[in-house]
Amino acid sequence: MPLDGNNNFQQTLHPMLPKPSLEEAERQSFAKSLRGYIQKAILPDLEPVYQARAAKRFEKETGHSPRDRHEIRKTMVKEPYFQAYAALNRIAQELLWLSVIESIDRQYDQLSATAKSLANKVGSYKVDRAFTPPNYVTALDIHCMPGGYAQNTGDDIEFAAGALYDRGVYLYSMGYGGPFNDDKGRSVVNYIKRNLKEFAPKTILDMGCAIGHSTLPYKELFPDAKVFAIDVTEPLVTYAHLRAAGLGVDITYEQRNAEDTGYPDASFDLVVSHILLHETSGKALPRVLKECHRLLKPGGYMIHADLPPFANMTEFMRFILDNETYYNAEPFWGAMREMNLVDLSAKAGFPKDKIMMTTAPMAIREFAGRAKGYDSGIVDQLAKREFKAGEFAPGAGWEVLIAQKETA
Ligand SMILES: C[S@@+](CC[C@H](N)C(=O)[O-])C[C@H]1O[C@@H](n2cnc3c(N)ncnc32)[C@H](O)[C@@H]1O
Repeated sequence: MPLDGNNNFQQTLHPMLPKPSLEEAERQSFAKSLRGYIQKAILPDLEPVYQARAAKRFEKETGHSPRDRHEIRKTMVKEPYFQAYAALNRIAQELLWLSVIESIDRQYDQLSATAKSLANKVGSYKVDRAFTPPNYVTALDIHCMPGGYAQNTGDDIEFAAGALYDRGVYLYSMGYGGPFNDDKGRSVVNYIKRNLKEFAPKTILDMGCAIGHSTLPYKELFPDAKVFAIDVTEPLVTYAHLRAAGLGVDITYEQRNAEDTGYPDASFDLVVSHILLHETSGKALPRVLKECHRLLKPGGYMIHADLPPFANMTEFMRFILDNETYYNAEPFWGAMREMNLVDLSAKAGFPKDKIMMTTAPMAIREFAGRAKGYDSGIVDQLAKREFKAGEFAPGAGWEVLIAQKETA
């Protein structure tokens, strides 16, 4: 059985992207394919194992069937099939980062030279070595990325962690981020195009931008807008700028904390984020929402694309997704899905009738759908599609929290 799934999107090259040699490309492709294989060939049998053995054993031991994802975990961790699944998943995750690190090491000097030539060419960036990123970002290597987001080499232009993230995340998402790794941004932008037709923001902020990949589609849709993007670590902000400069896009990247950005009140018409919230913390998330409210002009929009809440899923599905909390250094993954983001947004100051959760269909799936000849109704088809555990973006779309600030 070929390991390489059915996703053929290749990452588009740009000047700062570490380019794999043939051997490195093979190792990277193996790691990416192994992830796909685990999800397609191994994961689907977890539930039958649970039903046939683990649930019954739990019932025998306790007198009741497992009531929630935590009780399902208690019994599933005893199953050799689950143990093999979890171990293999972790191995694939570690392999993918390692396969990129060797590639960066080999071409580090060349990438450094490119970085020097691109710094401040188009757009700008601002980093501050006295800035302290929050503990929830630096305390562990999130999703097992070696060294984490804040890893510093001490070089004048600090970009290595960004390069690792750029190529690594393409493999991690098995290519479903699209050729520019920008599917989340592109999906939200498509949502705005369809649903907020009159909205023409002049100032846009992307929070937790990492390497700034999701930010670029906003400049594409609103070319006259001034687009800012922030993150808390120096290498990500630096690389984000170099990447955008290499692609010729004018964005201002800055090292700032989304909980307390330091921008003046009412600075932006649109504040967005993409998979930032689940990497913050129970205390930080409400602060980020409050900060969004403060930063918005009257009538401005806040849009956060992230993981779907647990609310409409089976307990078994919740258990599967929660494996990220336990085995992929994502401590806030499960807890965030239990939070009521609508209530929290209301507490942050947004009018209750101007807050909603909805799905922005994945741009990449729409693109693939159109390529197959669906020219209309594709969005509805995608929205109705059933979510399968292990898919990168459940339900073929990104869950978006949208709120509009009261008009003056
Ligand atoms: C999963 S990455 C998101 C990457 C990107 N937005 C995307 O579209 O894929 C989460 C990012 O949020 C950043 N982050 C976490 N807490 C933050 C905070 N309080 N302020 C700004 N950025 C933060 C992390 O450093 C990391 O780069």
